[in-house]
Amino acid sequence: MRRSRCFSVLASLLLYTLPAVYSAPTDVPSAASFYVPSLPDIHQDPQNPLTIFSGHLPSDPNADKTDPKTVTAQLFFVIIQNRRVADKKRVMFWFNGGPGCSSFDGLMMEVGPWRMDGKGGFNVTEGGWEEYMTMVYIDQPAGTGFSYTSTNSYVHTMAEASSQLVHFLRNFYKTFPEYSQMETYLGGESYAGQWIPYFADAILESDLPTRLHGVAIGNGWIDARRQYPSYLDYAVKVGILEENTDPWKAAKKRTDECVAELNGITGREPIVSPRCEGLLLDVTDIRTRMVNGKEMCINIYDVRLDDTMPACGMNWPPDIKPVTDYLDRSDVVRALHAERHPGSWVECRGRIHQEFRERQEESAITVLPKVLSRIPVLLFAGDQDLICNYVGLEAMIQAMEWNGAKGLGTVQTQSWTVADAPAGTWVSSRNLTYAKIFNASHMAPFDLPHVGHDMILRFMGVDFSALVGGTAHIPSSLGTSTKPVFLEQEASATETAAPDAGKSPQQAKAMWEAYYNAGSAALVLAFIFGAIGLFVWCRRRRNRSPRLPVARGEESIPLNSSTARLGLDDDEDSGFRERRVNGNGNGLHGASMKGKERAVEPGTPGTATIFKVGEDDEEDHEEVYRDER
Ligand SMILES: *[C@@H]1O[C@H](CO)[C@@H](O)[C@H](O)[C@H]1NC(C)=O
Ligand SMILES: *[C@@H]1O[C@H](CO)[C@@H](O)[C@H](O)[C@H]1NC(C)=O
Ligand SMILES: *[C@@H]1O[C@H](CO)[C@@H](O)[C@H](O)[C@H]1NC(C)=O
Repeated sequence: MRRSRCFSVLASLLLYTLPAVYSAPTDVPSAASFYVPSLPDIHQDPQNPLTIFSGHLPSDPNADKTDPKTVTAQLFFVIIQNRRVADKKRVMFWFNGGPGCSSFDGLMMEVGPWRMDGKGGFNVTEGGWEEYMTMVYIDQPAGTGFSYTSTNSYVHTMAEASSQLVHFLRNFYKTFPEYSQMETYLGGESYAGQWIPYFADAILESDLPTRLHGVAIGNGWIDARRQYPSYLDYAVKVGILEENTDPWKAAKKRTDECVAELNGITGREPIVSPRCEGLLLDVTDIRTRMVNGKEMCINIYDVRLDDTMPACGMNWPPDIKPVTDYLDRSDVVRALHAERHPGSWVECRGRIHQEFRERQEESAITVLPKVLSRIPVLLFAGDQDLICNYVGLEAMIQAMEWNGAKGLGTVQTQSWTVADAPAGTWVSSRNLTYAKIFNASHMAPFDLPHVGHDMILRFMGVDFSALVGGTAHIPSSLGTSTKPVFLEQEASATETAAPDAGKSPQQAKAMWEAYYNAGSAALVLAFIFGAIGLFVWCRRRRNRSPRLPVARGEESIPLNSSTARLGLDDDEDSGFRERRVNGNGNGLHGASMKGKERAVEPGTPGTATIFKVGEDDEEDHEEVYRDER
């Protein structure tokens, strides 16, 4: 009995595997070739290791019309599979901003599964968004982060960026078909406030199978007409400037000039405006001062902090240095299957921003209402951010017309708590949800991972009673509704456990796929030897259950052929940081780039004051948004 079952396992392995080996597709890389068995210096629970895939996928929609010797766009992605399942499976594609900033910002410092440990590696922690949903971090447009293309084919328009992403997704679903079936979200921040509405619209209008259920944008740059003037309003609100003082008058004059310039732009909605770019510095000039012989200015991403001139926030968060060092290691690059990318990873690549013709493009505010007519949108804002501050976002929302009305209308704003502390305010109207996060910077989930995670679970409508671990233990409430308390003993009973020897089910599946998809003769041989081994082992077997004779075959499947370097410019990395330092003595002043994620910036600058968290108290109470016009 035992033996015959063992033999039937063996037989079905043969039947299942061999035809697949022979019919492995040649044009689309297998999922197994992207599998990342481990990363250098990752510290995680060996019983529940993360399941990771990463690498490049062709993303140039015109590649087949291109000379085969030309290097075409290859976007880079990292998949972190969901660690637990609640009520259903979900997937989110994540984008950082720039333009030209890598989504490794999101992965390594914000919504990802780990934090740097201060010793060159990192620790897996709770609070990452992969707990209940698969996260896919995408470096785009081509040339950003580990993605690449030839230097004469960078993206210049939103339409090009969108079709590059759609083409990427088409190939992504060929390799990972299961994700086309899941509830799908787009998430990101800063300049991704431009990308995401365009991408959502492009996906909804495409023939992709994507089941797009919503998008989430943190401190997004969406509407220049409302967001530039908000620098002054925000500075007053948080106490950086006092009305009618000389510094305020100077800042007001600059703001008026900016508004005049914006008013001169008619018939379209600008993303940027040259005169307005200097405003961040002008408004926060009061925070520029000498400290211990160093010229300091405000951190434009977190007004509670200062940074050296002219970085003004570009050196923040402090993790950026260890992250950059880590991603520069050749063993890390190899483990991530990023070897085809020439040169070093840089957080934000200035060249990508320079090539993007944002001055001619329509801002995403023109697309957002269309997206809202089809899917829910979450706009969230850490209240300590200056560059894409909440005051500007609220002004934008009140001026925007969507789903038949303007502004939020007379809906109630609810107070929101996480871990028994005030987390922020929350309001929803006609498919738009706006969440203001207290005491958080431009990278809100960096400061408050559990708050950011609670927020995204609420937005996605995750059934809290189905949570099985981690987050399930953290109390939270919205208005009068409270998350159910999770009992400890249920946790240990239901929490997903790794079945055998440190392999999660996903990892076991990934290893299996390595065999299933691999087209190499070596693997066929390995399989046959493995099968013989299994046969022998089956005969000797007593009480243990059969195991697959599988190893790390996926590692040998090359995605990293040496196609790459031709046509690529290794020296373009100088990027924002260098430009930023050049400029004029005033640092960011005068350059046209924005926020990190909304960019990295050379373009903006500043100074500010101390944010009074106390001010939020009144807004913590329920309040009513009214349409003022
Ligand atoms: C990371 O994990 C190691 C080993 O588990 C621990 O000693 C260290 O304190 C952790 N570091 C941080 C920053 O959490
Ligand atoms: C909101 O989104 C849903 C999809 O979740 C969509 O069916 C609906 O038409 C949208 N519009 C409004 C006004 O709710
Ligand atoms: C706000 O954040 C700062 C530093 O991140 C912390 O010291 C302070 O306690 C926080 N305040 C509240 C009200 O959470």
